[in-house]
Amino acid sequence: MATRVRSFAKINLGLAVGPVRVDGFHGLTTMYQTVGLHDFVTVTAREATETRIVLTADHGGVPRSETGDAEKNTAFVMVNGALERMGIRAEVSLHIEKRLPVQGGLGAGSANAVAALVGLERELGRALPGAERLKLGSEVGSDVPLFLVGGTVLGLGRGEEVYPLPDLPVTHCVVAVPKVGVSTKLAFEALDKRQALTFAQGNDRLRELSRVLAAVWSMDGAESGLSGVNRRTVDLAENPLLALVRTGIENDFEEVAFSQHPSLRSTKRELVGSDPGAAIFACLSGSGSALFGLYASQTDARAAQQRVLEAGTQAILTETLPRPAYWDTMFAE
Ligand code: C5P
Repeated sequence: MATRVRSFAKINLGLAVGPVRVDGFHGLTTMYQTVGLHDFVTVTAREATETRIVLTADHGGVPRSETGDAEKNTAFVMVNGALERMGIRAEVSLHIEKRLPVQGGLGAGSANAVAALVGLERELGRALPGAERLKLGSEVGSDVPLFLVGGTVLGLGRGEEVYPLPDLPVTHCVVAVPKVGVSTKLAFEALDKRQALTFAQGNDRLRELSRVLAAVWSMDGAESGLSGVNRRTVDLAENPLLALVRTGIENDFEEVAFSQHPSLRSTKRELVGSDPGAAIFACLSGSGSALFGLYASQTDARAAQQRVLEAGTQAILTETLPRPAYWDTMFAE
């Protein structure tokens, strides 16, 4: 029996990058949000005398057994690490059906790693304790642990320190997928050169976004932590997302990405559009190159998708995925 798992993408609602730390990584503050777009990861596993992991994919850009570099694939590393922690040897096959862009800033590779782990656990009928999973995830990549939480997630540290936030309401989303890919490592290096922040300035940037997030989620202490104050005075479209946008959330990577790839700035403009029907918020995701827009209605989202498509860039319609839906719809069949 094989287990087919949906490997959902994430977007970043605000991303502040701080100074380089002693371990060479950058401190950051971000709010991750999972969305409905996904790859599929199919796992088969059975205990054996030796561990053997075979990784196949339907996309040329994915490190896999056929190309001799499967060990570089985060899904492979995650499964190998999980087996070691469980003290189990197994024959495992992993098949990745790529629907999400590689190097897109949507966390696709990291999500694949979590989907592979979830599939492995189901196949073997064994599960790592939650804290172990998070530790393993953070060793595999900074963006991996968020996918062990899902929904709306606060990311601190190098992005691997994750805290579940009250879910934002389901929101229409358009993800634009430009043809260029962006290396996360190079994006951080380019940002360093550009910002040349002192350690103190870098830390101020992190605190700034932390204050914005805290301010929005503490507007009242009502059930689920959502903004009851706003809800009483305005309609339901007034949600924490609007409050966040008004208070000010940005992605520090935009200046680097837009100067290296000017066409991304135009794509953002197409996502934003103009009133009536303008995006609630549009932004680069992670270090790019994908951008996203969030909309009050499906009509607005469809119109934005059309604008981006007409300008020659792939654009996909989706919705934000709250935590319960993330876990409830993870198994494909
Ligand atoms: O953790 P992950 O493997 O995704 O990181 C890829 C690269 O991005 C790292 O090797 C590092 O150069 C850079 N990075 C960083 N600061 C972070 C996350 C990643 O400098 N917070």
